Amino acid sequence: MVQHNVLITGGSGYLGGTLLNRLTEPSLTNTLPGLSKGNIYALVRNESQAEAVRSLYGVTPLTFDINDANAVRDAIVSNKITVVYFLVDPVRSDAQVHFIRALGEVRHSLTAQRDCVDAVHFLHTTGAKMFSSHTGAPTDRPLLDNDPGLFEIHRAQRGKHPVLNQAVQTNITVIEEGEKHGVRTYIFTPCIVYGKGEGFGNKISIQTVDIVKAAKAAGGVFKVNNGKPSWPVCHIEDNTSLYIDLLKGILQGGESSPDHGRNGFYLAASGNVAWDDLYEAMAKTLAKRGVIKYSTIVQADQTTLEKMGAALDGAPAEFVSVYVGGLCTFTAEHGKKLGWKPEFVPEHILEAADEEVDWILKHL
Ligand SMILES: NC(=O)c1ccc[n+]([C@@H]2O[C@H](COP(=O)([O-])OP(=O)(O)OC[C@H]3O[C@@H](n4cnc5c(N)ncnc54)[C@H](OP(=O)(O)O)[C@@H]3O)[C@@H](O)[C@H]2O)c1
Repeated sequence: MVQHNVLITGGSGYLGGTLLNRLTEPSLTNTLPGLSKGNIYALVRNESQAEAVRSLYGVTPLTFDINDANAVRDAIVSNKITVVYFLVDPVRSDAQVHFIRALGEVRHSLTAQRDCVDAVHFLHTTGAKMFSSHTGAPTDRPLLDNDPGLFEIHRAQRGKHPVLNQAVQTNITVIEEGEKHGVRTYIFTPCIVYGKGEGFGNKISIQTVDIVKAAKAAGGVFKVNNGKPSWPVCHIEDNTSLYIDLLKGILQGGESSPDHGRNGFYLAASGNVAWDDLYEAMAKTLAKRGVIKYSTIVQADQTTLEKMGAALDGAPAEFVSVYVGGLCTFTAEHGKKLGWKPEFVPEHILEAADEEVDWILKHL
């Protein structure tokens, strides 16, 4: 049996920080077969982050440039890393390819004397946008994350935004590169994740935060969709438990090995909510706090879209719906096979809107 060494990236972020925190709880570490804190590494970018992961989680910090192939190779091979969780960048693929090639080398050294097909693993974190109307995914039916044809469907997807097409291609590149180097790959897909981040760094999410940023800039919460499209949602604890259940399956191996490669898509979602319902719940609490004047939701016009875009990384008006709108029928089935079951119902995000906005305003 391979002694696994696990590298978590993005540990100073919202998803990765919460994952590191949960993963290193003594009660949990004891249930991860063959893994102790001594086998967990965290990629960090400076000394204060290194000190945080050492003192808070008792894991080993590693600092190297993920865009430098040699630096990645050295770090992965010299520490005999066998599992990499990538939570840094869903768009470009360069760093992921460096990691996969390095893992291939580790596999080679581990399996020199015997054949071991499940020695090394790479999990890439993408996003639900890559399986939505923004990227030409089917939206006329539920798109199951365990659909045996999903790889081909995904490969054929095209949307109107080059940056999102690039992110779709990155998922494909990760899978194909894994096949070339004997590395098992997983495409992990968070959606609208909400709830309190538990890490030492960033404690807030992305899309609920974008709704707040756009509302502040535009003076209200505005509809950016036609019709009443919906999007998958997931509490941060449920998102984290899917990351962990996948890791358990990887560590157990054999019959418990998670599906991977062309069959390795995993959506972390408890179900869908309509954007309009989310806008309404968030507008109510933003108005109550005096952040915006009125809680009424109206359709955004061009000027409003421009104001919203300015607050969303300076995005052009036509890109605003990519941040806070769109239709996504991607459906979480695959995690169930690992025993994953979300604790929170989708409507919980609406009930929790007041708490979410409070948390966002404190940490924005
Ligand atoms: N949160 C969501 O709802 C959601 C939904 C869908 C997809 N995702 C995707 O999931 C991933 C994690 O999301 P998040 O919410 O945790 O994001 P986040 O809070 O912004 O965290 C990003 C992490 O990546 C690290 N990072 C960025 N560039 C790096 C580099 N060149 N080298 C090493 N580390 C680097 C950051 O380190 P520093 O702290 O040093 O900057 C940070 O730890 C992202 O790719 C995001 O797009 C998130």
